[in-house]
Amino acid sequence: SMQLELKNAYLRTGDQLKIKGEILHDAERFQIDLGYSEDDLALHFNPRFHDDSDGTVIVCNSKTAGCWGDEMRDMHNPLHRGTEVKIVVKLAGDMFEVELPDGQEVKFPNRAGVDLISFVRIRGDLKLTSLKIS
Ligand code: GAL
Repeated sequence: SMQLELKNAYLRTGDQLKIKGEILHDAERFQIDLGYSEDDLALHFNPRFHDDSDGTVIVCNSKTAGCWGDEMRDMHNPLHRGTEVKIVVKLAGDMFEVELPDGQEVKFPNRAGVDLISFVRIRGDLKLTSLKIS
C-alpha cells in the first residue's frame, strides 16, 4: 500500500486534483484526505472494497482535532479492484465534489468552511500513476 503526503500545498476554491491509478487486485481500501493536517481533515474520501458491514462502499468524513465527525456512506461504489481509475476532486467552496469514472459525483459538505487546503494525502491499496493539481 502507498502513501503520498503534501504538507505545504496551497489549494483554494476552484482548484482541483486529478488522481489516476490502478486499484490493487486485493485492495481493501484507499483514501484521499484534504485538510490542514492529519488531525484536521475537511475531506476524507475513502472507497472500501470489503467493509465489514457494507462490502463495497464509499465512506466520507471530516476530522477535527483528531476526532472523526459523522460518517457519510454512499452504497454505490463504482470503483473496482484491479481496474484503472481517474478521480477528480473539486474544491467547490461549500462542497467537495468527487467525480468518479462512471460519471457519478460524490458530494461532501465543507463542514468547517475551510478555504485553504494545505495538507493532501493519498494512501492505501492504490498504485498511483498520476497526480495533477490545477
Ligand atoms: C474509521 C476508520 C478510519 C476512517 C473513518 C471514517 O472507522 O478507521 O480510517 O475511514 O472510519 O469515518
